[in-house]
Amino acid sequence: MILAPSILSADFGRLEAHCVEALDAGADWLHIDVMDGHFVPNITIGPLIVRALKPLSERTGALLDVHLMIENPELYIDAFAKAGAHRITVHVEACTHLHRTIQQINEAGLLAGVTLNPATSLRSIEEILPYVDLVLVMTVNPGFGGQAYIPTSTDKIRRLRKMLTNRGLSPFLQVDGGIKADNVREVVQAGADTIVAGSAIFGGPNSVAENIAAFRQALTVTA
Ligand code: DX5
Ligand code: ZN
Repeated sequence: MILAPSILSADFGRLEAHCVEALDAGADWLHIDVMDGHFVPNITIGPLIVRALKPLSERTGALLDVHLMIENPELYIDAFAKAGAHRITVHVEACTHLHRTIQQINEAGLLAGVTLNPATSLRSIEEILPYVDLVLVMTVNPGFGGQAYIPTSTDKIRRLRKMLTNRGLSPFLQVDGGIKADNVREVVQAGADTIVAGSAIFGGPNSVAENIAAFRQALTVTA
């Protein structure tokens, strides 16, 4: 399992140190949630924060996994590439010419992912599957950290895993939203291999290391 903590729930006053805690505890990638106040009702961060994390990424080898929840994402690919992003994931709902946008991400030298909202059918990404390195199933409505996992997502993950297997494709299958130590096993068993978690890693009373250990532990328990 690849664990990608979402910095959305990190302490921005000591962002690098908080990310170091996660990487030292075994996190693999850093997930960066970009919101524009149009595609989603919240505004978060832009290329500047990616740039700020670039030295840490270079030191540790942690990939910067950028999730664009913005309209017209094609206008910002180069800015995020220059800032140091390794992969960019775009929403099918925000891309009129999705294939072109995926190509543009690859031409910028980055790995490309596609994602879809909870109410969007898997059929909408069927044609793009051969072209992406990652498929992200949103398990909450994008816009905010700390929301509850939408239970019907488990079946959607299972159906996506089946679609990929049937087509002989093996992009990362990432999940994002409401994932905690008590449901990570369910999504991994359904077929997810890349886990995004924000509040369950950076929030709460326990340390980041304890939170990450709880995720790993949840996957090793046999029952
Ligand atoms: C939701 C974002 C998520 C979010 C996850 O719009 O894409 O990455 O920060 O946060 P938690 O894990 O708190 O649901
Ligand atoms: Zn995200």
